[in-house]
Amino acid sequence: MSLGKSSGASVEMGECTRNPSYREADSDGPAAAAAAGRSSPEPAAKRLSSDAGQEYLQIQPYAGMPKEVLLRYSSQARYRVTREVLFWLTVACTLALVGITIAVIALSPGCLGWWQGSPVYQVYPRSFKDSDGDGIGDLRGIRQQLDHFLYLNIKSVWISPFYRSPMKDFGYDVEDFREIDPIFGTMHDFEELLADMHNKGLKLIMDFIPNHTSDRHRWFNLSRTRDPYYENFYVWTNCNATHPKPNNWVSIFGNSSWTYDEVRGQCYLHQFLKEQPDLNFRNPDVMKEMIDIVKFWLDKGVDGFRMDAVKHILEAEHLRDEPQVDPNKPPELVTTEWDLHSDYTTSQVGLHDLLRTFRAEIDNYSREPGRYRFMVTESYDYDEVWKTMMYYSTSLVRESDFPFNFYLLDLPHNKSGLWAKELVNLWMSNMPKGKWPNWVVGNHDRPRISTSAGPDKVRVINMLLLTLPGTATTYYGEEIGMQNINITDSQIQDPAGKYNSSLSRDPERSPMQWNDDVNAGFSSGANSTWLPVHPNYRTLNVEAQMQDDTSVLAQYRFLNRLRSSELPLNRGWFCYVHADAQVFSYLREFDGLQRAYLMVMNFGEKSAVTDLSSFPEFPERLKVLISTSHQNSGREFPKSQILTEPGEGLMIRYSTDTRFNPNHQGECYISEKACYLEFIDILYKC
Ligand code: GLC
Ligand code: MG
Repeated sequence: MSLGKSSGASVEMGECTRNPSYREADSDGPAAAAAAGRSSPEPAAKRLSSDAGQEYLQIQPYAGMPKEVLLRYSSQARYRVTREVLFWLTVACTLALVGITIAVIALSPGCLGWWQGSPVYQVYPRSFKDSDGDGIGDLRGIRQQLDHFLYLNIKSVWISPFYRSPMKDFGYDVEDFREIDPIFGTMHDFEELLADMHNKGLKLIMDFIPNHTSDRHRWFNLSRTRDPYYENFYVWTNCNATHPKPNNWVSIFGNSSWTYDEVRGQCYLHQFLKEQPDLNFRNPDVMKEMIDIVKFWLDKGVDGFRMDAVKHILEAEHLRDEPQVDPNKPPELVTTEWDLHSDYTTSQVGLHDLLRTFRAEIDNYSREPGRYRFMVTESYDYDEVWKTMMYYSTSLVRESDFPFNFYLLDLPHNKSGLWAKELVNLWMSNMPKGKWPNWVVGNHDRPRISTSAGPDKVRVINMLLLTLPGTATTYYGEEIGMQNINITDSQIQDPAGKYNSSLSRDPERSPMQWNDDVNAGFSSGANSTWLPVHPNYRTLNVEAQMQDDTSVLAQYRFLNRLRSSELPLNRGWFCYVHADAQVFSYLREFDGLQRAYLMVMNFGEKSAVTDLSSFPEFPERLKVLISTSHQNSGREFPKSQILTEPGEGLMIRYSTDTRFNPNHQGECYISEKACYLEFIDILYKC
């Protein structure tokens, strides 16, 4: 072997040799012998060290030298020591690099998910944008307006239902979960919308309605006719055809939640409209079918689900009467959900197991890198806040990323800083440790807060929404301060309003106000839109507000963009500072970062002077970065005298080396603690 190698070396030498003395030695050496076919009397290595080795001593090292020469020199101390030093240096550097990499990974806090980094924007598809001129919004319309989200720096869009539906409850009564209603477009339109959204970096959250279907759903028809597979897909019970009330349960839309079905000769349960029969989740086949539907949409690529009306999913099997809130009320007057303690129709044992099963299926689709799928639950539990909190995932079992927090919808009940703080704290103090909060100030079921709190409170409420910790939800139009429309009885569309006009949800569902063109730019062709456009659209619209850097829209956009770039705002500490009859004040700061944001917001009816001089952590003079009353932006206040007008919110930015949170631990909250290391610009767990 060694001979062969030498031979090879000599051939190369012939081409690249620079040293004539080597050529001499080689011609008489083992390679030459091998080439001549002579057998070598001694092992080559030995001969080299004795005879030829002596000659090599004369040779200077040179590029392309053969192994023998190389070895002679390389064993000399100066080469050997250098080599060893370099070798160990390389080993040490590699180990250090591996160590640093592991340490950085171990010490890095988790990145924010897409559902944490942007507000969720709710589109009510009938009212957002009509592309075909029938006066009703549609999927192509939404697609035309995607740049609106980019303009606002919104990344997550929840679209209320667009499944095939007879529209008794405007899409919350689903006839086919795998089809798009023709009013909204086609499956192709949906696919194009989703593709465009993904291309623009937007996420699409679907509405999913597990509790019920439409009475026109194929399953319901098969259940009425007792098809063996579908017979128990709904909640049926025997009842008296002339008085079909197997018990006192009432529908959310009023009156008995039971309706007699002539085909089957039994009563079925509907916690909402009689056209929305409740599915029977005690039948495992129902769960199986619903999971298939969830997978159908996940396969299409949707990014998450808003799970509708989840607390109603299960009912007690015993069907006993629910206790009356007022035991003395005559039973025939018990007609609304407020008359009963809904002990047997909501939040039943087993509900969370079902939601966790949905979640596990959804999570199977989150494994693909960068494709996290999100889940949020809708449940109004009013003063039973602990029930809402049960929808949060725990460290052992996953459920929703967060349950919707509806408490800020009550802001208008009492216009004061103390009340604002109380509502915020209701969530913060009950939320399981380390969880991610969220805030809703409006949706398609509740009067617009700009109307109930008053137009002068729109800006401060948006400011609150965008500076609290956690994910904000913005119902379409809130970014420009849209208001409820007035509806006459003959204009009522909403079934809840037909039952009781004061419960109509139409006022908050009016067409989006894009510009001052016909129909506010919502629908070009239509003579009339499905609900009237608010008459204020000529001045209150997106286009006008884009031209005005003091508008509600400009403020929304500024705050939302700032939020996504500023650590204190997107993942920093939240600390209560002060609350009184007018003002609610809190702080957002981040350990290791000098910049902090102090919010001073007047939710009351009077002007206020806020004195924060008892807090040594704040600098003496405080400069307003942005005020909702624009003329006050840039103004400076001594910390003992911060002035606010009713409905005015101030964002004060200041710089300091002193952190507030270490001295006020009981008043401060953070989801996942992290610190900033300025000189290498990284975050680490601390
Ligand atoms: C949810 C929806 C509401 C709907 C109801 C029945 O509460 O938000 O609009 O009427 O569920 O599906
Ligand atoms: Mg249309």
